[in-house]
Amino acid sequence: MALTDQTRAEMREIIARYPKPRSALLPMLHLAQSEEGHVSPEGIAMCAEELGLTKAEVGAVATFYTMYRRRPAGEYHVGICTNTLCAVLGGDEIMASVKEHLGIGHNETTEDGRLSLEHVECNAACDYAPVVMVNWEFYDNQTPATVRDLVDGCRAGTPPPPTRGPSTLCTFKQVSRVLAGFPDGRANEGVQAGPATLVGLELAKERGDRAPAMSTTDKDA
Ligand code: FES
Repeated sequence: MALTDQTRAEMREIIARYPKPRSALLPMLHLAQSEEGHVSPEGIAMCAEELGLTKAEVGAVATFYTMYRRRPAGEYHVGICTNTLCAVLGGDEIMASVKEHLGIGHNETTEDGRLSLEHVECNAACDYAPVVMVNWEFYDNQTPATVRDLVDGCRAGTPPPPTRGPSTLCTFKQVSRVLAGFPDGRANEGVQAGPATLVGLELAKERGDRAPAMSTTDKDA
């Protein structure tokens, strides 16, 4: 879908939220992505026009952050963590299996536009390794077989629910709109920090551990 006057109006709405217009660039790029499924040259041009920046300045930001896609993402964008902990617990195996199953590689999209695949860095969810994200929602403790089922469900338009967070999975465009600052009201849905994440906290409580007091110097730093 092409960018419209409505997109431009919403970009101005985002800009109005910030004291300095250029602070709005990241959510504006998510908004452009929510319309087109990626950040196109038109999306970059519209952001540049609205912010009084050059297209090169906007492009430099869009290419720096990996959450912005330069080619159309699938309706379901699958990110497989292959950082150290996930890798040793099966992330590499999952990546190899999904590549073969879908016939696409890193940063590629299936011909039907349903799925895209990305090798991602640590999702800060190592306590549930190996972890896979679809449209930035967590699928914890995965195996090659569960991820093949997951991508098959996405391809059929019936993805299984994330293991934490909302009870149903949004599309890539829908989630990009939320990241642009237009909430869908589901931010607090479902399980947030699960038991594995809370183990450290429970142990600290049992032992009576406390965080060290912050010194005045630390506060001022
Ligand atoms: S290494 Fe995979 S979530 Fe941290």
